[in-house]
Amino acid sequence: MDIYVYFNPISRPILDFLILLFLASSCLNNSSVVVESCMEEERRALLSFKQDLSDPSGKLSSWAGHECCQWTGISCNNRTGHVAMVDLRNTYPYTTGDYQWNTTEYLQSFLGGKLINPSLLGLKHLSYLDLSSNDFQGIHIPKFIGELTSLRYLNFSSTQSLNSVVGEIPSSLGNLSNLNYLDLSLYNYSLSSKNLNWLSHLSSLKYLNLRGVNLSSTGVSWLHEVNMLPSLLELHLSSCKIGGNQLPLSMPTINFTSLLVLDMSGNSINFSYPKWMFNLTSLTKVDLSGNSFSGPFLDEFVRLKSLEHLDLQSVGLKGQFPKFSGNLCRLKSLSLASNQIDGGIEEFLSGFSNCSFNRMESLDLDGCGLVGKLPSSLGMLRSLQHLQLSNNSFWGSIPEFIISNLSSSLKTLDLYDNIFNGSIPQSLGKLSQLLRLDLSYNSWEGNLTEAHFINLTKLESFAVSTTQHVPIIFNLIDYEWIPPFKLHRIVMHNCRVGPGFPIWLQSQTKLVLVSLENTGLSGAIPEEWLFKISSHILWLDLSSNQISGKLPFRFNSFQNLRSIILSHNQFDGTIPSSICSIQSLYELILNNNQLSGEFPKEWSLWSRIAIVDVSNNNMSGNIPSSMGIPSSLYMLKTDNNHFSGEIPSALQNCSFLERLYLGGNKFTGSIPSWIGSKVSTITVLQLQSNSLSGHIPHHLCSLPFLHILDLSHNRFSGTIPNCLNKLTSLIHSSYWHLIGFIDIEVTTVTVKGRVSEYLEKNVWFLTIIDFSHNDLEGEIPEEISSLVGLATLNLSINQLSGNIPSRIGNLRLLETFDLSQNQLSGQIPQSLASLTFLSHLNLSCNKLTGRIPSGNQLQTLDDSSIYEGNPSLCGFPLSKCPEDGDHMHEPHEDEADDEKLGLYTSAVLGFIIGFWSVCGTLILKKSWRYAYFQFFYHIKEKVALAIALKVARLEARQ
Ligand SMILES: *[C@@H]1O[C@H](CO)[C@@H](O)[C@H](O)[C@H]1NC(C)=O
Ligand SMILES: *[C@@H]1O[C@H](CO)[C@@H](O)[C@H](O)[C@H]1NC(C)=O
Ligand SMILES: *[C@@H]1O[C@H](CO)[C@@H](O)[C@H](O)[C@H]1NC(C)=O
Ligand SMILES: *[C@@H]1O[C@H](CO)[C@@H](O)[C@H](O)[C@H]1NC(C)=O
Repeated sequence: MDIYVYFNPISRPILDFLILLFLASSCLNNSSVVVESCMEEERRALLSFKQDLSDPSGKLSSWAGHECCQWTGISCNNRTGHVAMVDLRNTYPYTTGDYQWNTTEYLQSFLGGKLINPSLLGLKHLSYLDLSSNDFQGIHIPKFIGELTSLRYLNFSSTQSLNSVVGEIPSSLGNLSNLNYLDLSLYNYSLSSKNLNWLSHLSSLKYLNLRGVNLSSTGVSWLHEVNMLPSLLELHLSSCKIGGNQLPLSMPTINFTSLLVLDMSGNSINFSYPKWMFNLTSLTKVDLSGNSFSGPFLDEFVRLKSLEHLDLQSVGLKGQFPKFSGNLCRLKSLSLASNQIDGGIEEFLSGFSNCSFNRMESLDLDGCGLVGKLPSSLGMLRSLQHLQLSNNSFWGSIPEFIISNLSSSLKTLDLYDNIFNGSIPQSLGKLSQLLRLDLSYNSWEGNLTEAHFINLTKLESFAVSTTQHVPIIFNLIDYEWIPPFKLHRIVMHNCRVGPGFPIWLQSQTKLVLVSLENTGLSGAIPEEWLFKISSHILWLDLSSNQISGKLPFRFNSFQNLRSIILSHNQFDGTIPSSICSIQSLYELILNNNQLSGEFPKEWSLWSRIAIVDVSNNNMSGNIPSSMGIPSSLYMLKTDNNHFSGEIPSALQNCSFLERLYLGGNKFTGSIPSWIGSKVSTITVLQLQSNSLSGHIPHHLCSLPFLHILDLSHNRFSGTIPNCLNKLTSLIHSSYWHLIGFIDIEVTTVTVKGRVSEYLEKNVWFLTIIDFSHNDLEGEIPEEISSLVGLATLNLSINQLSGNIPSRIGNLRLLETFDLSQNQLSGQIPQSLASLTFLSHLNLSCNKLTGRIPSGNQLQTLDDSSIYEGNPSLCGFPLSKCPEDGDHMHEPHEDEADDEKLGLYTSAVLGFIIGFWSVCGTLILKKSWRYAYFQFFYHIKEKVALAIALKVARLEARQ
């Protein structure tokens, strides 16, 4: 199952053209008589329609009085005076990447409501209806829309991840025989159509967009219906769940041959040579990305003489660079990103050598597995504006010929994640049109100087880092240098920018995204600079430096900040309460500093806070109860401080809470009952090294996603609950991989360096139950042997008695197993020998008796301290058992060995299949390419991803 949620912008020029066409035709009958007053009947219809709309920002406040033709969004035909156009599109710039994005305004920008009033039918001459990007809270598209037979333009699309309209598309839309333009595109499969019979009646249709509409049950008929639309110019069917068997390979005739744009990206179609497609000879743009490809196919695109834009990203191309023999001269953009292409790009470039001139403007070869030096012949593409070669294995330097030939065209140069080495060429400073330069994650050495930037007057986004141990040194001749650019985004990791905050950096006052990790910055953050960027900065990451002093006090001037990441520095003092005035704050990461004092009490001011990490500081006091008021909290990490008091009950409001790290503090009291009852989303619960007491409650077993449970070093008493076999994510050996993965991706994307902070810990590979160092008594419940996903089980240093559960060998993935310092008795079960991954075992200081089992991994665990302190144990690696005589006892043959290997393999396979089929396609898709640059796209992506993954979770359960 592949899930794609693509964000392809509608191709603007053609759309504009269509609107123009529409406007022109609606004005065709203009006479000189201008009728502009409003028909009373239509005025009333509009007012009834308005009554059922919610309008938080008062957009429709002009809808009063008699001149309805003057109202916002309304246009009348200036000959007849009838209302012709209702345009209530929400134009709030959510998708533009405009960083002046204001949350409050955004949330208020939607018109909404639970009803579209049928009074609209009073507008008999309505030809244009646009309600797109609003929030209709999950209503169906009303059937009566089909009675508005004058409609030429209908738009219910949404560019946001809302459940705006849902359900089956009403077949009454088939009555709209005048329709030219129909857009029902959404992002979440909330609309569907069982068959598209209605579509075939729309014979005037020129533009059709059904992106995100579930068409999986239409069989092959979707194509037959589309084939009844001879005027079609644009067809957008991306992410429609059109499956592999839904694409007919042959058609008797194709009669939508005027088609200019074909977008079928993000389906699961196996394009194996559908001949009819190459009869669409007018095509200028084809996007088939995110499908799969086979057959002798690529050459066929050459036959499409008009083709200008071709996107074949993530279609599973393999092998040598595809040959586009000849017809490359017309091509303006090509994406082959995320395919596995062997070798270099010389052969591809040779395809351009016949062109008297080429028009290539955008070339995207991200993640193609390309290897080698960059060929100078790239410089032939003199019109190139966007060059994306990231995530390959290019090495060497950037040839001079390329730089000088492209110096007046190139706007984007993305080379991140290759193995470019040596020094960064100074001539890059010639690329005078450059907006975006990304050199990060290569093996650069040496210096950056003023010369590298000399003509980069337009540069907005700059990223550099090296994977070498020696950092890149920002080596200025003129300490007072002021760069020619004003950056919006700067990402420098593993560079030497400091000491101090250099003047060139302080001259950058338009910054929106700052990530200066491990850059040698020291001293205090210059307040004046911070103040200058405070009104627009979204992302501030100054982690892993030597910055000292107090946290900035004037946090209240930051209005849009989403992320504060100041971890691994030398900040001291308290967290100022002004930080709570940043209402937009999403994550606050302050771990590994010397912060002290309490959390500010004004916490409840935040409404979107998701991640708080203050671990490894000297903070103290209670966690304020206000902390649970913003229910958005997803991760709270306060470990290794001096916090005290009880675990605050207010956290029970946080219904998304997935990770709670409270270890290494002075918390007291018991485990609150909301964990597992009110909040069941928890995946990580770390409470170790506190002074918690009471029983381990049964409600912990109601955490189906839990995979780390650490209660060690506390004062818990009573028995181990016998319900642990209800911890769903631990009883399936592959389930937790998926869940954990979701955590990481949804929360810590964006700056690669930081992702790794969490990734390196492999959080999602960890499955731990640690109850050690408590006062637990009674037997180890047999249910524990159901936790087949468990890798660590530590019950040491308690008062546990009775036998080791006989089926302990079921825990096939167990790597660490510690039962030492208890009162366990009886024999060690033979099944222990089936734990083939065991690397740490400790059974010492118990009352175990009899022969130590042998075989498999146990033979390698030959340290006698594993078993010592059990006076009645015998056998390898302790002394021989009395009955053994002179001969070493032969180990019991583990007859089920092969079977176990098989089981393990299938667990791993299950993981790989589950993981990659759900998540793999998501990671590899288009938008991830811009990883840490496109911060905005990331927010969008997170939302999309969260939704896509929710879908995935649902589907995975079926
Ligand atoms: C009629 O309306 C169109 C578009 O709304 C406008 O461009 C045109 O100037 C109007 N004609 C007159 C005579 O006002
Ligand atoms: C389009 O082609 C189909 C055959 O696939 C034919 O039956 C139909 O009549 C044609 N429709 C139009 C509108 O030309
Ligand atoms: C495609 O075009 C060729 C040549 O113009 C024609 O013979 C063939 O019938 C067409 N196929 C379809 C499916 O329309
Ligand atoms: C965001 O919009 C609200 C409402 O218009 C306004 O009060 C607030 O000042 C704006 N914030 C910023 C940072 O512009």
